[in-house]
Amino acid sequence: MNNNFLQNTLYPLLACPRCGTPHDSPFEQNETVCTHCKLAHFQIGEIPCFFPSGTEHKLIWQFQAGVMQKTAIHGLESIAESLSRYDLSNTTRNRLGEIYHSCELSQVNTFKLLEQYGITPLVNEQVNQMNIGDLSEYYDLILRDWAWDTTENPSTENQNALKRVISQIDALNIKPKKILVLGAGAGRLSWDIHSRVKPEISVALDSHPLMLSISDWLIRQQQPIALGEFKIFPQIGFQSGQVHTLTPPADPENLRERWFGLGGNIWHMPIQAGSFDMIITPWLVDVTGGDVRDLIGVVSNLLAPGGHWINTGPLLFTRHIPVQIKYNAPEVKEFLALSGFKLATENVQVSDHLVSPIEARGRTEQIWTFTACKSETPDASSVDGVIVPWLVMHHLPVPPSNYSTKDKHPLIGTILSLIDGKRSINDICAEIAGRIPEGITVKDAVVTLLGQVIAEESDNT
Ligand SMILES: C[S@@+](CC[C@H](N)C(=O)[O-])C[C@H]1O[C@@H](n2cnc3c(N)ncnc32)[C@H](O)[C@@H]1O
Repeated sequence: MNNNFLQNTLYPLLACPRCGTPHDSPFEQNETVCTHCKLAHFQIGEIPCFFPSGTEHKLIWQFQAGVMQKTAIHGLESIAESLSRYDLSNTTRNRLGEIYHSCELSQVNTFKLLEQYGITPLVNEQVNQMNIGDLSEYYDLILRDWAWDTTENPSTENQNALKRVISQIDALNIKPKKILVLGAGAGRLSWDIHSRVKPEISVALDSHPLMLSISDWLIRQQQPIALGEFKIFPQIGFQSGQVHTLTPPADPENLRERWFGLGGNIWHMPIQAGSFDMIITPWLVDVTGGDVRDLIGVVSNLLAPGGHWINTGPLLFTRHIPVQIKYNAPEVKEFLALSGFKLATENVQVSDHLVSPIEARGRTEQIWTFTACKSETPDASSVDGVIVPWLVMHHLPVPPSNYSTKDKHPLIGTILSLIDGKRSINDICAEIAGRIPEGITVKDAVVTLLGQVIAEESDNT
């Protein structure tokens, strides 16, 4: 692949996720250093990876790969041990053999792929005891994207996902030039959109090394890979394991030259503000671990004025997110209005999700798809019960005023002194983070104190 192309198209959009400095130095030996804060960023294959911990992030991936490999080897050894026993019939032997074969092939090929991208598994007992995240978490998405949907046996899931997004773009009657897909996973949807819409550039951002590697391998490198699938619960009439060959998508027009994988974390974006005219978040808003309001802030910052945000997916917020921030659709729409977004279209569909050809069971999910346009002029609408938009949407600048309060909390003076008409609550929190006593959440403290100031002010008028 042409490195000049990366240099001319993707690199000018990047920024250091720690200090925000635009990226302007080439990668040498898979590393580049921020000209301002000197943080070293890395590349896996041709995928630039920009995380706030720099090259140390690659180590985390390597430890995650180490844990995944250890678990896989342990599982294989246990089945191999059972297969060597004398008390099995051929029926049991065949079932275990099918599982062993698919599992072994997946483990060999997955680690070969990760190695190709420089992610050599590392094992460290101390790290193993920490919860560093399970790399196999989204394995089924890889199969759904690239294995279950073949020419002989097409699956409707990928087609429907594409239709949901394309119908939104068609309704806008626009041709986006720069598309950013956040949480792009194994890449299929971002590729399908890219090859249909043919923008100048598509960037598929994710924080998951296996997802990034698979999508780059199939889309950019045009290489096939064989992976296995196995089911631990027997189902009548279905085999227990299957080997799939994932084939690269056809690309007669060489559109992959303009599709890029990017390693990064949504909460520490490595992209310059206003760089994209379309952002797509497929099945993301409920799995980021954060607050949807903050995600709206991230999207708003990355979109150029007049740009569009297409969201598609359920509101199946992960278990450990508090119920207070498991927002419903009307709440999300209020947040959009408060942030100066105009809702263009929306629909709700009920659709199959992750239905495997070797599975009798299946999931059905409710999928909410909407398009919101970032206003050219950042005017927020008013929403019932909301005193001021910036108190709810923490990315909005806090307007200057003669704020005063009877509260003599030592922090209040510092917080009020930081209000300059440009800083948001998020910016203020970042500035005072180190000065807050342990055990207090910065955001809670700032929002509460500013809330009191505003409430007192409106009581006085
Ligand atoms: C439910 S999956 C959906 C993947 C893909 N959009 C799809 O529809 O198949 C969510 C994806 O978001 C990514 N993700 C979650 N939190 C992220 C974060 N903070 N930064 C970057 N990617 C993130 C995950 O790695 C995962 O690939």
